[in-house]
Amino acid sequence: MIRQKIVAGNWKMNGSKESIVSLINGLLEMEDSNSEVVVAPSFPYLSQVNDLISDSSIVLAAQNVSQEVKGAYTGEVSTSMLGDFGVKYVLLGHSERRSLYGETNELVASKVKAVLDSGLTPMLCIGETLAERESGKTLGVCEQQLQAVIDVVGIVSFEQMVIAYEPVWAIGTGLSASAEQAQEVHSSIRAFLAKSSESVSQKVQILYGGSVKASTSSALFQMPDVDGALVGGASLDAKEFIAIVKTAG
Ligand code: PGA
Repeated sequence: MIRQKIVAGNWKMNGSKESIVSLINGLLEMEDSNSEVVVAPSFPYLSQVNDLISDSSIVLAAQNVSQEVKGAYTGEVSTSMLGDFGVKYVLLGHSERRSLYGETNELVASKVKAVLDSGLTPMLCIGETLAERESGKTLGVCEQQLQAVIDVVGIVSFEQMVIAYEPVWAIGTGLSASAEQAQEVHSSIRAFLAKSSESVSQKVQILYGGSVKASTSSALFQMPDVDGALVGGASLDAKEFIAIVKTAG
C-alpha cells in the first residue's frame, strides 16, 4: 500500500504577524513535493496563514479545538470556526496538551469525534514518557491511547485520521528516536489496528514526531511504516523545514 507522506510543522506558541510572513515566504520557495506539507500556527494567525498559502499546495492545521459545537465556552474555539479559515487537520492529544492541560484519553477521544463530525481531519498524537519506555510500557500506553479513541469513533473512522507517534522523551529534547525505534513502534501500532481492521491499518498514515531534523528525517522516512513527520522546533526555520520535506521525496 502506497501512503502519501505528510510533513507537518507544529509551530506551537511561537511567531508574530511579522515573523510568520517571512517564514511562509521562505516556505513558498519550496519546490513541488510528492508529500503533503502542513503548517499549524496558533489560532490568531490561522486567517493570515490561510491567505498567505492560498496559491500554494501548503495545507493548514490547527493545534487544538473544543469538543463542543458552540455556546458558552469562554476562550474555546470550535471546529466550524476552524473550517471557516481553511483548516484541514487538527492536532489532538499532543503530549503538551495531555501533560500541561490535563487532557485525558477520554477528552481527546471526544475532540476526535467533534473534528470528524465537522469533516476536518484529526491528527491524533500518541506516545509514551521516558519512564513508561524504560518500564517496557511503550506499546501498552500507545494502545490505550488508541483504544480510547476507537471506543468512541470506531475503527473505520481511522481511515479519515492521521496518527502521530511522538515519544514524549523525544519532544523538544534533541533526543530523536532512532529510525529503527520509530519503525518498531509504528509497525506495532499498525498491527494493533489490524486486529480491528486490516484495511484500515494499511491505509492510515502514521507520522513520527520528536526532535525531527533534516539530518535524521531521511533515515526515518526510509522506514516502511513511517509515513511522514510532525516537526516542532525545526519547522520554525524555513530552510530546515524545506530540507526535511525534501528528504520525504
Ligand atoms: P519537536 O516537537 O520537533 O520540537 O521535538 C515535535 C512536536 O511536539 O510535535
